[in-house]
Amino acid sequence: MTLLGSSPPRPDGASKVDGTLRYANDLPMDGAWHGATLRSPYPHARIRALQWHPERAPAGAVCVTAADLPGPNGVQLLDDEWPVLAAELVQHVGEPVAVVAAPSKLAARQALRAIEVDYEPLEPTLDLSTAGRQEPLYSLELKSGEAEEELARAHLLVEGTYRTGHQEHIYIECQVMSAGWEADGSLVVEGSMQCPYFVHRSLIHVFGLTAERVVVKATPMGGGFGGKEDFPSVIALHAALLAKACGHPVRIAYDRHEDIIGTTKRHPSVVTHRAAVDAEGHLQAMEIDVVLDGGAFRTLSPVVLSRAVLHAAGPYRCPNVHIRGKVVRTNTAPNGAFRGFGAPQVQFAMERQMDRIARRLGLDPLEIRLRNVLEEGDRLPTGQTMDESCSARLCLEKAARETDFKQRWRHLEAQRRDIADGDSMPGVGLSLYFHGAGFTGNGERVLQSVIEAALLEDGRIEVRTAAVEMGQGCDTVLPMMAAEASGLELEDVVLAPPDTSRVPDSGPSVASRTSMVVGGEVAHVVSEIRDRVLAWWSDRQESGAAHTVEDGLVRGEKGQSWPFREVARSYAEAMGPLVVSRQHEPPEWQVFDEETYQGVAYPTYAFGADVVEVEVDPDTLEVSPKKVTAVCEVGRVLHEKLCVGQVEGGTLQAVAWGLMEEVKLEEGRYLNDRLATYIIPTIKDSPEMEVHLLEKPWKGGAFGAKGVGELPMDGGAPAAVSAVENATGIEVDAIPATPERFLALTSARRQVPSEPEDPERARGADR
Ligand code: MOS
Repeated sequence: MTLLGSSPPRPDGASKVDGTLRYANDLPMDGAWHGATLRSPYPHARIRALQWHPERAPAGAVCVTAADLPGPNGVQLLDDEWPVLAAELVQHVGEPVAVVAAPSKLAARQALRAIEVDYEPLEPTLDLSTAGRQEPLYSLELKSGEAEEELARAHLLVEGTYRTGHQEHIYIECQVMSAGWEADGSLVVEGSMQCPYFVHRSLIHVFGLTAERVVVKATPMGGGFGGKEDFPSVIALHAALLAKACGHPVRIAYDRHEDIIGTTKRHPSVVTHRAAVDAEGHLQAMEIDVVLDGGAFRTLSPVVLSRAVLHAAGPYRCPNVHIRGKVVRTNTAPNGAFRGFGAPQVQFAMERQMDRIARRLGLDPLEIRLRNVLEEGDRLPTGQTMDESCSARLCLEKAARETDFKQRWRHLEAQRRDIADGDSMPGVGLSLYFHGAGFTGNGERVLQSVIEAALLEDGRIEVRTAAVEMGQGCDTVLPMMAAEASGLELEDVVLAPPDTSRVPDSGPSVASRTSMVVGGEVAHVVSEIRDRVLAWWSDRQESGAAHTVEDGLVRGEKGQSWPFREVARSYAEAMGPLVVSRQHEPPEWQVFDEETYQGVAYPTYAFGADVVEVEVDPDTLEVSPKKVTAVCEVGRVLHEKLCVGQVEGGTLQAVAWGLMEEVKLEEGRYLNDRLATYIIPTIKDSPEMEVHLLEKPWKGGAFGAKGVGELPMDGGAPAAVSAVENATGIEVDAIPATPERFLALTSARRQVPSEPEDPERARGADR
């Protein structure tokens, strides 16, 4: 079989292109009412009184507030600190205070005006630096070696503070959820989500129902990017509460404006680096402080911080590392899961810091990385030793070779003119990055993911997982993995819809884990069904000799063959149902100490290197990315086109985060809460992309796969900003590098040093 690595068409492809696919808001809902949300206009306020005036609302309209909750007022994620509806306090602009339902959308919107809230505004915390003085939402520490001691006797000490901003997911399909109560008191919820069992758990938590009484169905999704990992639980709770109150099914569909102000975003960050390097530029010690802006509630921030801390030192060798991380609370919408999950922020900082170290020593960005790149046998700050699947050098060298990086970078440095000179200014930048595959630490063990397969009456095998197709292609890749492992035809394998009444909890569709973790188990359970069918078939043959399956055909010893599906159908007819399930067990050596942060945080890592070429317009200070060369080593390429697509999409999202995407807040209020003002790249803004996929299979993963969904999010921004620096000589340590920010930096003359510094002098200056 050579199915893996090829590019069969995706089953959802045509219907997505021709518009016939029905997303959650396209599904018919007979007799359904519409929900609407009353949101806080204040970043921080006390609710003195809340009054619902049904007589002022359209007939029949219902209103639900925190006082009406049947159970805890908490969205169950890691904990339930996130309120379902604000009770005494509102803590961010856009926070849901009450929800209403009415027979039409218009009536629901009118009903909102029948709620009167008396707020007492309170002082908000909006600034990360003042937020830092309060008790953090969560904090972590990781230490290996003696960083402080080494820093004190550093040959050269390099310091830097790097900042990143919010990012909106801008999935094409906004958040939407429908809920209805059955006559027997069970609850059915359907909508756009990455994690049906997360939603399931949060509904059980508030309504106190048994697991069987709650059914959650994930509909085909128009994008997730992490934004449908946490928030769907909130909107599902709202819809279910309203459905209960009005006695009809209720749908809530956010428009873009609502989606931007009300839902989670990428955590802004401030990362402070202090590094000791020797005269050749080898990292001797690093002290790294990571501060993430958690927004108003904890949500998934502890695990985002965990991934941030674990990626903060980048794919580099450094014997002494001390990383401190904390998430602080601000009066802004809670920040949550977003592709990369903390890793892009810290690797932006690390990559900028590497460039800064290089300049201080008169080295180029490639050279400094080559001297420090993580290799097989090297240890991470967690103590984990890199195995043969470490490919950082491979990626770095490939990216440099493909782009002639060193020559071009040096050439552009040498010919750099003053920014006032008129012509557009070209620049080239480089980044190196890695991404831990699967859940962090002991996460995969705690999850206890179960994957199931069943033989259908027609002889096909149904794969049952909670994995959700959000565009990433799991509906294409999972059957491919099953077919590859079992010798069946792609058409012999069908996927059950991700509906909690039909599939086991195979874990959430997050953390680049679906192919690597779920896919591996899918291959197992389908192969086991094949084996049982084959054993039965062999028994029935005269010789009793073993049979094999290849290309969908069962082959006997005398060269006879039968379509597997026919054989399986006779099995089903004779023997009845056959269901096989398996719980995923991470490798036993994957042990992580949550106290000391030592051990194996991820069983393997995917690596990448990007080279971004930009042009800077000296009049408008606009940065145009012209070309990106992305080299990603993903263990094993399962579906080439989809894999390239993941790299292209993630890279574009990363470059845009670095150069243009900006959530603008003033006093906690949004200045750009729609797509006319929150600018994401169109095809016109998109660089040419050249993707090189490399493979260094990880022996513990399914067919060697390491996960690719999040990896490309880590490299685009630092490489783009590095290119800006190469073009202009202006050092950019904060993103997005919008023209406005750039203007400020230009006026402040934040020039990079033109000559390497005397380390002795630099040492004094930095103290
Ligand atoms: Mo994600 S950001 O692991 O959905």
